[in-house]
Order: sequence, then C-alpha cells, then structure tokens
Amino acid sequence: MLINFNLNHKPVSVDAPADITLLALLRDRFKLTGTKEACEVGECGACSVLLDGELVNSCLVAAPSVMGRNVVTIEGIHAEDGGPNDLQRNFIEKGAVQCGFCIPGMVLAGEALLSIKSDPSRLEIREALAGNLCRCTGYMQIVDAIETTAKARAEKHHPEKRED
Ligand code: FES
Ligand code: FES
Repeated sequence: MLINFNLNHKPVSVDAPADITLLALLRDRFKLTGTKEACEVGECGACSVLLDGELVNSCLVAAPSVMGRNVVTIEGIHAEDGGPNDLQRNFIEKGAVQCGFCIPGMVLAGEALLSIKSDPSRLEIREALAGNLCRCTGYMQIVDAIETTAKARAEKHHPEKRED
C-alpha cells in the first residue's frame, strides 16, 4: 500500500506492506538507522521517534497509521547548520554518551519533554525518560544534559528571568 506522510519535515510517499512497523519502514526503506532496533516489544525506547510531536516506540506503530502525519527521527534533530543542536551538544559536553545505542531515543525523549515543559524538574526529566533504557550511563549525565538545555533555552527566550 502507498503510505504518504511527512518525514523529518518533508513529504514522502512509500509503497510498503500493510503489516510493516514504522521501525522497519524507517530503517529498511528510508535507511534512517539512527532509530535503533532492540527489544521490538516496546520496552527499551531505542526505537523512539516523534509522531506529531509525541514520543512513541516505532516498533509498536503500524506503518500505515502514520498516513498524513508527521514523523521526526533523530536525523531530523539538528542545528540550522546541520550540526548537533544545543541538546545534542549538551549530551556530549556532560558525558551522557557512552556506547550511544540509547542516545537517539534519549535525545528525542528530551525534545518531547522540552516541547511541552520548558522548566522540568529533575524528577520530571527522569519520568520523561522512564521508557528509555540506558545500560551505560546511570542516567545522571543524561538528566544533566536535558536540565542544562532547558535552563539555557529558558534564558535565551526570557533573559529577564535570570537570577544571577
Ligand atoms: S525496540 Fe522498540 S521499544 Fe525496544
Ligand atoms: S549510552 Fe550505552 S545504552 Fe545508553
């Protein structure tokens, strides 16, 4: 069947079997391998993407269900010059990346949270990451990266709120 949707802000059209998952569609047909394949049962978050701005496990999404909708993968998250954006830079600067397997999902979980909550507490950040497993970092640096990004973005948009 023909599936039309917006992928990383561009309209796409792909002929695919009706029973394929969004994860398989992204990796096999679009070669967007930043979306990782791991548990395939919705437990690890490695396959996270944004669907109309909400974090979803693409291994649990039937590809035809994205018809007419907006899908953003990690390849769609970057600065204007195509390099890492502020959140991605903070992941690097805070030492939040070790093997890197979970990081696309973590970054997308962070972006999903920051799109609805500009000043999340550390607890709220941890809750937002609850569906994303990391075997390497212990999560503290990941939470640091998201918290630092939230504060920097808030200051950029509301510099009058600076406390120091
Ligand atoms: S591969 Fe989808 S949640 Fe683990
Ligand atoms: S950095 Fe290795 S699983 Fe998270």
